[in-house]
Amino acid sequence: MSTTFNYQGKTVFVVGGTSGINLGIAKGFAEAGARLAVFSRDQEKVDGAVAKLQELGAEAVGFSADVRDYKQIKQALQQAHEQLGDIDVLLSGAAGNFPAAGKEMSSAAFKVVVDIDLNGTFHVLRAAYELLRKPGAAVINISAPQAFLPMQMQAHVCAAKAGVDMVTRTLAMEWGLDGVRINSLVPGPIAGTEGMKRLAPTPEIREAVTQSVPLKRQGSCEDMANAALFVASEQASYINGVVLPVDGGWSLGGASVMGEGLAQLMKTQ
Ligand code: NAP
Ligand code: COA
Repeated sequence: MSTTFNYQGKTVFVVGGTSGINLGIAKGFAEAGARLAVFSRDQEKVDGAVAKLQELGAEAVGFSADVRDYKQIKQALQQAHEQLGDIDVLLSGAAGNFPAAGKEMSSAAFKVVVDIDLNGTFHVLRAAYELLRKPGAAVINISAPQAFLPMQMQAHVCAAKAGVDMVTRTLAMEWGLDGVRINSLVPGPIAGTEGMKRLAPTPEIREAVTQSVPLKRQGSCEDMANAALFVASEQASYINGVVLPVDGGWSLGGASVMGEGLAQLMKTQ
């Protein structure tokens, strides 16, 4: 990826940054000169992500922590802060997802997604608050179209991500007073990711999803990285509390295709 943004000397923390979209974003920041810290549960994935970021020439560290456990994620963020200093960019993107019909989903299944996506996001932001560079830090929460578009088989994710966006908006008002900006990025269907494997599990659903995007393509991790590099940059210094779709226009009308596809598929199983 070629970048017009310069993050030389900046510290970027990416929570849930060991695979998929968030790792793609971390790589974008690494290529733009930032030093990186990544966090997720699985130590092997953490080590793999750190190695990939170092291959790009970045100073990079990683810690395993579960965002559901406030003490664990706080300790991991503090350890990274001791090594890399105040956080210029914090990205919170850990999430869990699986399709499940509301009338069959257990309460534990609903709760696990809310715990990771919504409570986890608050844990990350709350624990990082003292470690953010003030003024000047930028926080990015990774949301989903389900936050504002109801989608079949996704009651848990819709509820959790809607909450994430309200955390974005509320804390943008509060932390803006300290010179900290907070925005949500909303990925559309991003090709080759775990999310797409789970929500578009057949070639038929994948093709229907692609065709339902006005730009007639799925997005890439580079598309997400480009958006994150912009939103976190000086050039976006007056953008605060925004929920920004990066989806080729999918959320304007096409997104219901995914829920309908999943509902049909699960009826036949
Ligand atoms: P992914 O590769 O599965 O990424 C999820 C990341 O979160 C991994 O690094 C995972 O690593 C970590 N994680 C999961 N549970 C965690 C926990 N309890 N504590 C700490 N870390 C945890 O998925 P993805 O598809 O790229 O999705 C990334 C983000 O984009 C998510 O926020 C998702 O909701 C959003 N999104 C994706 C799409 C899409 O098309 N894929 C569309 C809209 C929104 P460990 O397993 O090591 O913990
Ligand atoms: N359908 C219905 N319920 C499911 C399910 C599925 N596919 N997968 C898990 N559940 C339920 C479990 O049955 C359990 O409920 P129960 O106690 O009533 O049986 C509950 O959810 C918790 O499951 P568990 O496996 O203990 O959770 P976990 O903490 O080990 O893992 C997940 C969390 C389920 C979200 C797991 O898929 C995960 O780690 N995902 C991260 C990666 C990801 O989802 N990436 C895509 C991001 S868009």
